Amino acid sequence: MATLELKGITKRFPGVLANDQVDLKVSSGEILGLLGENGAGKTTLMNILYGLYGADEGEILIDGEPQQFSGPGDAISAGIGMVHQHFMLVPVFSVTENVVLGVEPVGFGGVIDMKEAKKEVRDISKQYGLEVDPDAVIEDIPVGIQQRVEIIKVLFRHAEFLIFDEPTAVLTPQEVEEFFGILNGLKEAGKAIIFITHKLKEVLEVSDRIAVLRRGAMVGEAEPATATENDLATLMVGRPVELVVNKETSDPGAAVLEVRDLVVIGDRDQMALAGVSFDVRAGEIVGVAGVQGNGQTELVEALTGLRDVTSGTVKISGTEVTHATPRQIHGHSVAHVPEDRQRSGLVMPFTITENVVLDAYYEEPYSHGISMDWKAAREKAADLVEQYDVRTPSTEIPASSLSGGNQQKVIVAREFGRDVKLVIASQPTRGIDVGSIEYIHERIVEERDEGAALLIVSTELDEVLALSDRILVMFDGHIVAEYQGGSVTAAEIGLSMAGAAP
Ligand SMILES: Nc1ncnc2c1ncn2[C@@H]1O[C@H](COP(=O)(O)OP(=O)(O)O)[C@@H](O)[C@H]1O
Ligand SMILES: [Mg+2]
Repeated sequence: MATLELKGITKRFPGVLANDQVDLKVSSGEILGLLGENGAGKTTLMNILYGLYGADEGEILIDGEPQQFSGPGDAISAGIGMVHQHFMLVPVFSVTENVVLGVEPVGFGGVIDMKEAKKEVRDISKQYGLEVDPDAVIEDIPVGIQQRVEIIKVLFRHAEFLIFDEPTAVLTPQEVEEFFGILNGLKEAGKAIIFITHKLKEVLEVSDRIAVLRRGAMVGEAEPATATENDLATLMVGRPVELVVNKETSDPGAAVLEVRDLVVIGDRDQMALAGVSFDVRAGEIVGVAGVQGNGQTELVEALTGLRDVTSGTVKISGTEVTHATPRQIHGHSVAHVPEDRQRSGLVMPFTITENVVLDAYYEEPYSHGISMDWKAAREKAADLVEQYDVRTPSTEIPASSLSGGNQQKVIVAREFGRDVKLVIASQPTRGIDVGSIEYIHERIVEERDEGAALLIVSTELDEVLALSDRILVMFDGHIVAEYQGGSVTAAEIGLSMAGAAP
């Protein structure tokens, strides 16, 4: 049995104490859940363990022996394997080529023995239930399968200690379940596993022990058998967090958004929306559930002027906007929280202040004819940073230097920070920690209670269930089911999400 131990690990970055005297231990045959908000120091700690960073203080022990890692090569030799948050595969290479990259088996005459390599990939994949085609090219396979390739890669290097950094962030609910099956298989095969997440349900479902990191420090351990989501959230955030969304029954008014027979073609020339019709009324939250890739992205793009509409109509407050530009739609008092914050939500080189006034700089109170009132803009930004708990040293740093979750908060703050009639939000809390999710959910309900119409698209079924007054389920470019919020279970919606008739 092997044991990996971290003792008193401390790591400072300029202005940040990323890890503060952290102790951690994991042994063969167990899954340690490492829970913490965005920015808590989880990735930093694992990067130290993997030899990517040197610690300022503390030590790493394997079976009681102190280790000196001057790079990932040393960590790998010591039996440590890491599946990174962002996969590091070469997109144009095959599965096998990626697995053996850098450690290719050499056959007779110094030639790389691809046949042997393929056989090993097959053996590992069979042994651990990691089904994958050794000849498939990475860019052609779904993210869930790419993740298996990363795992095979680590096992190919004989890892005994496996680190998974937020592995479920990119997976669909079904893929998450499969992934948990794989984790349990690895555990049964005697591997020691560190599973990093900020999701409470997941850490409770799969871990044998749970360690919680907050602002760099280990704040406690929890027992998965007895701990509740509320206990974990409190440990993680440092205060009690409301995990259920409190809201009154809705009392919807007139239709604000009217969509009729909408047909939209996707990037791969496929029929992304095959004739979709629905309304969203004032004072109502309509949630769109579905597995990613069933037309939700194209729906939001079409409604916000980012994608051409082939046929059908869209009206906002009675005015037709089917072929309007994004700025024209913005002019109809529409807030848009986009799915891809780096591409269409923020201008990365711009400061937080500049991003906050991004689509209002030509309006009062920031513009007085020809001059721009930067003081008003900075005050607004400072105000929103405070309200939305954006973790940043200043409002005058570029958006690119914020973490993903904090970037998302800036977008939500900007979009909800003005008077709107219609909110179109795609994955509004993706990558955000529970403390901030609570706040954003409260703000969504407040917008509703002030009379806005809200369309919330989310692949997090729990989020759709918690927020929606009405739920639409998308499958293969169609709305295949509609439910009243509060009267339907996740299991029922799950069936419609897979295409079954309700
Ligand atoms: N290379 C780096 N340079 C400077 N600061 C960093 C660096 N990496 C992480 N940080 C900071 O350290 C803290 C912990 O970050 P991280 O370990 O990525 O957290 P987590 O993985 O828990 O979200 C954050 O405040 C982050 O901004
Ligand atoms: Mg991280």
